[in-house]
Amino acid sequence: MQIRSEVQGVDAYYSPEWVADLLVSALPSSASGVVIDPAAGDGALLRSAERRFGTSIQAAAVDVDRETIRRLRRAEPGWLISRADFTNDRSLYSSSVYGVAQRASVSWVLLNPPFSYRGNSGSTITTLYGDFRVARPVLFLWRALEKLRPKGGVVAVLPAGVLDGDRHRDFWEAKARLFTVTEIERLPSRAFLGAVVSSVIVSVVPLTFSSLLNRPGAEHSTVSAQEKDNSTCCCVDIIRGRVPRAVGAEVDSGESSIDMMHTTDLNGLRASNRPHLRASASLASSGVFVVIPRVGNPASFRPAIRSGTFVFSD
Ligand SMILES: C[S@@+](CC[C@H](N)C(=O)[O-])C[C@H]1O[C@@H](n2cnc3c(N)ncnc32)[C@H](O)[C@@H]1O
Repeated sequence: MQIRSEVQGVDAYYSPEWVADLLVSALPSSASGVVIDPAAGDGALLRSAERRFGTSIQAAAVDVDRETIRRLRRAEPGWLISRADFTNDRSLYSSSVYGVAQRASVSWVLLNPPFSYRGNSGSTITTLYGDFRVARPVLFLWRALEKLRPKGGVVAVLPAGVLDGDRHRDFWEAKARLFTVTEIERLPSRAFLGAVVSSVIVSVVPLTFSSLLNRPGAEHSTVSAQEKDNSTCCCVDIIRGRVPRAVGAEVDSGESSIDMMHTTDLNGLRASNRPHLRASASLASSGVFVVIPRVGNPASFRPAIRSGTFVFSD
């Protein structure tokens, strides 16, 4: 049976069992560990995960609504449950579920966030790739990735509009640099009791180290193919920049070329605003980098963190 919260303004359109099972079917059969729903409602998603994975998972639930949390605590004494506002750092950080997520690390996040904007024009999020103005459900998704850092990923029900429309195109393009975003299934417009809405189940899964390295332009990595293929291993490559700057100055405009990264480009989290030299794509490396200058005085804004495909100068 579907139950709806009495509380107004929190979008308590709970997932019916078949939607919850469909969403959970996107998890791999090996899923285990802490699984969190940060907008848990009556816990339908986590209950479905327990049906599928049994005691291999520890269910952890967050919801902002006091009465919802009271009901959930009565119904599920074995779960970790916190009342918190998932969109508010202070509230989230003081919750016991967040504490467990920090200590034990999260395997998956299951999410069916509130969809409505209620007149608010969205929230601005700051990422490595710039600032984006996003709708509320996307804010939940982004915070699930950013604050809970699930090793497996997030499987979420989202309004179809946030995937199809132009408004979030830049956001998804930025996400695609570090995550694989897969549309699992479009849901019928009356899937949720009391709502008529076009929605879609998506999974957002971190790219593995090996898939980042195997992107075009990563050919000159020194890690052997066999080492790279171990996607369960957390490896760090040390790459020594070795391309003279003059090579970047000389690149032929017709050649396939990539931004060249030099010590003077390093400025903490901010991208350099200097015009970039370009160098041949055959010299490039791809991935997430902590870039440390080999010359010059250390400073708080160096090293820098960069993600993408670059040619590192000497
Ligand atoms: C659409 S319901 C989904 C519930 C459940 N995940 C499911 O699929 O059945 C959204 C839930 O988010 C909760 N919620 C709304 N705003 C929230 C916030 N800022 N932080 C945490 N939970 C919130 C609501 O109380 C509601 O239970």
